[in-house]
Amino acid sequence: MCGIVGYIGRKSAQNIILSGLNKLEYRGYDSAGIAVKCGEEIIERKFKGRLSVLEGFLCDNPVHGNIGIGHTRWATHGAPSDENAHPHSSTDYSISVVHNGIIENYVQIKEELTSLGYVFRSQTDTEVAAHLIHHYYEGDLLDAFIKAVGKLKGAYALVAISEKEEKIVCVRKDSPLIIGLGENESFVASDIPAVLEYTRDVYLMDDNVFAELTHDGVSLCDENKHPVQNEVYHVTWDAQDATKGGYEHFMLKEIFEQPTSVRNTLRGRLDKIGDKVTLDDFRLTKEDFNKISKVYIVACGTAYYAGCIGKYLIEKYARKTVETDVASEFRYKDPIIDENTLFIAISQSGETADTLAGLRYAKKMGAKVLSITNVVGSSVARESENVLYTWAGPEIAVASTKAFSTQIIAMYLLAIKFGLYSGNLSEEKADELIDSIYMLDKNIETVLGKIGEIEGIAHMFESIKDAFFIGRGVDHYLSMEGSLKMKEISYIHAEAYQAGELKHGPIALLEEGSVVVCTLTYGGELCDKVMSNLKEVKARGAKVVLIAEEGNEDNDGVSDVIISLPKAHEDMNILPAAVVLQLLAYYSAVNRGCDVDKPRNLAKSVTVE
Ligand code: M6R
Repeated sequence: MCGIVGYIGRKSAQNIILSGLNKLEYRGYDSAGIAVKCGEEIIERKFKGRLSVLEGFLCDNPVHGNIGIGHTRWATHGAPSDENAHPHSSTDYSISVVHNGIIENYVQIKEELTSLGYVFRSQTDTEVAAHLIHHYYEGDLLDAFIKAVGKLKGAYALVAISEKEEKIVCVRKDSPLIIGLGENESFVASDIPAVLEYTRDVYLMDDNVFAELTHDGVSLCDENKHPVQNEVYHVTWDAQDATKGGYEHFMLKEIFEQPTSVRNTLRGRLDKIGDKVTLDDFRLTKEDFNKISKVYIVACGTAYYAGCIGKYLIEKYARKTVETDVASEFRYKDPIIDENTLFIAISQSGETADTLAGLRYAKKMGAKVLSITNVVGSSVARESENVLYTWAGPEIAVASTKAFSTQIIAMYLLAIKFGLYSGNLSEEKADELIDSIYMLDKNIETVLGKIGEIEGIAHMFESIKDAFFIGRGVDHYLSMEGSLKMKEISYIHAEAYQAGELKHGPIALLEEGSVVVCTLTYGGELCDKVMSNLKEVKARGAKVVLIAEEGNEDNDGVSDVIISLPKAHEDMNILPAAVVLQLLAYYSAVNRGCDVDKPRNLAKSVTVE
């Protein structure tokens, strides 16, 4: 939810920090700031607003120095303002810190510090850290930092500098932090893209490990200053993957990357011979699976909808009961979970606080844990005994697209694996599914080819206030995702309903000109029922956008527009339909002049509960 960058080396800290913050702006963008050690003093500059405000100021008033820290914020404690922007400094500006996360006991610490005479300038929880380090400082920044961190409760990635020392110190607990290892220079950041221009060698920091970055390199230690070893992780993906590459927005680029991402997720994992589904970092045997009485899938937002689709697929092909829950609810409802439960956490970032807390809860209750994540070395991955990486590549736009499609691929893989484990899926049927999964990238490409048509249809959403997304069965889950996508980037109020449920209340909302988007990825009896539901909608004067598989399109004239999906095997039009919904939301937002990649009030990674 906030982006951190720190630099120590021989170059201009300001320039490197600004370039890193640019790559991290997806993590928060309501204010930004920088603190640079200039000789014997720290110069702090910070402003409410996008990073460009800070950049504009620094362009005319540069700060010179080669040690510094910077931050781009997504507000939690205290509204976006110049005062609440990071870095935060001790009263005399001798210590400066940036922080991502929440310090839960800041009120108590603030009271203690206030009674000692400390004066606070902001409403943030972070400021206590700066004063606390100052309070403990006796000539060694790392010592003071360790003592201060010892007082903190909550989640944090915390980075500090002192005007008196040529170093940066940092630590993480439940908030992402990496260290970039360059030649004669070191970096600290919330995420790898911030440092990739300068180095591919990074430490993925563990919780409660302290790092000291000096001109001589990086050393790691525990809270007793005992040295700690960490493996160097060599980044193999390209910096280009984290830039717009000619597209107007990251979201559009990522929508178009989906055929490639899907191929990457599948690579080496699906084959008609042998075990059919091969998953590395996956220890769950057939015997383990067959002892499991229930699967629980827990996630947030788009990842949760991927989990709902997973429920549909696993129950259908493996005949195992699957419960789903949003992570912010899961652990507070005393869920029925034990050693016979398989708990699946889905998280693109692998850092979502609620999902991580759900995972920890499930582990504590004895469940077997499998995580599906996109980020190698993320907290969710590190805390799971089984991990299925989605290999979607970095997803920068706040609106999740390629992460969603690769999470669905993961769900297909699990449905087949579990179906074979349980004996409910025959080898022949599994082969049929495998063949059709291998056609998904092409079918997505076919849908992407309809971009012009979908862009035109999106004009229907230009001046409406409300939109409705309906579907039955698995299509209802897709409708929920379509509705989330629409509301989060275009700010149109959008609701999703099961098509058959409309007449039990929501239909009262429909009036002349309302827009209803209906997803229909299958044929058969249910298809006829959906058509009847559409007639009810049409009779109330609503405009209908139908997304349907070729051959199942409207033949009673109930739709105003039809976007057809390629003919596909049963259950294989989920992804092509999702792509249509993404493009509809994207162009609706563009037509309405919204900031697609950085929607208001949202952040890419929600590392607070
Ligand atoms: O990183 P995660 O997958 O755990 O994130 C979960 C949600 O915050 C995320 O999917 C969110 O709903 C998306 N921005 C929606 O597009």
